[in-house]
Amino acid sequence: MGKMRMQSAPWRAAAVLASVLLVGGVAACGNSDTGGGGSKDDGKITMGFSQVGAESGWRTANTTSIKESAAAAGIELKFDDAQQKQENQIKAIRNYIQQKVDVIAFSPVVESGWDTVLKEAKDAGIPVILTDRSVDSADKTLYKTFLGSDFVKEGRLAGEWLVEQKKSASGPVNIVELQGNTGAAPANDRKKGFGEAIAANPNLKIIASQPGDFTRAGGKQVMEQFLKAYPKIDVLFAHNDDMGLGALEAITAAGKTPGKDITIITVDAVKDGMQALADGKFNFIAECSPLLGPQLMDLAKKVHAGEEVPPRIETEETTFTTEQAKEALPNRKY
Ligand code: AHR
Repeated sequence: MGKMRMQSAPWRAAAVLASVLLVGGVAACGNSDTGGGGSKDDGKITMGFSQVGAESGWRTANTTSIKESAAAAGIELKFDDAQQKQENQIKAIRNYIQQKVDVIAFSPVVESGWDTVLKEAKDAGIPVILTDRSVDSADKTLYKTFLGSDFVKEGRLAGEWLVEQKKSASGPVNIVELQGNTGAAPANDRKKGFGEAIAANPNLKIIASQPGDFTRAGGKQVMEQFLKAYPKIDVLFAHNDDMGLGALEAITAAGKTPGKDITIITVDAVKDGMQALADGKFNFIAECSPLLGPQLMDLAKKVHAGEEVPPRIETEETTFTTEQAKEALPNRKY
């Protein structure tokens, strides 16, 4: 008896450790029942988020929206910037799996090549939410839902506007296209939607199409090449505002007037793009909303609680002409 009461310090430490491990194990099981990996049992949801990068004004606004919404929703956010590299995103997701976060959310830099890591998350019992951009995985059970825009529609709206503007053109209308980064859903889909829409008028021809990686520097550099290679450019379709803004510099430097000599159509409607539109340097913008944070946090709570969520949730968006941009600018948040 005496021996039992008088445990040595190492034995007492081992007993405490065993009971902590037991309680921890039970807590982990409890969390996985609710659909989450469960790092701890304090009732707080932990989200691991892998962001594409910081390539554009849109992306900056999206990151702010996610960080602010996580704080407002009481969700602990682990955030990683992948610097536009898929391998960095895969590494971040694997880290989140190891850390046993409750939910993983990410905006895939490209559409393909995610099945293996998504399967790892699924096997670990951690639900995945795709936001902004989707993946082309055939197995839809690898993620819970997608939240973001209809990029094909954005491209189509841009193309339809151009078809209307050029309906009385009697000769060829030469279009150059600045694509987003190769393999990205918004680059693939905007190209598709725009191409389908302009097919309505055989005068409208894409004479050159190159990736500018969604950055101002990329847009400027590729537009400089286009201007050197093609003496007659009538229209620029840029897959985002930032590439369009970079192209403005190249067009002005080439002695042309943006918005007049070259009609400029972009996507996003961030403040700088809207200012260019209001100033008559851009001619039309199809909106893509970056303010996905509040809906994302709501979805995270639902999937963590094991609730059913729709497989795809699309953001409501509009389009802007110069007049509409002038009106909307004073209240534009990003
Ligand atoms: O995925 C959304 C796109 O990514 C935005 O249109 C672009 O600006 C960003 O970089």
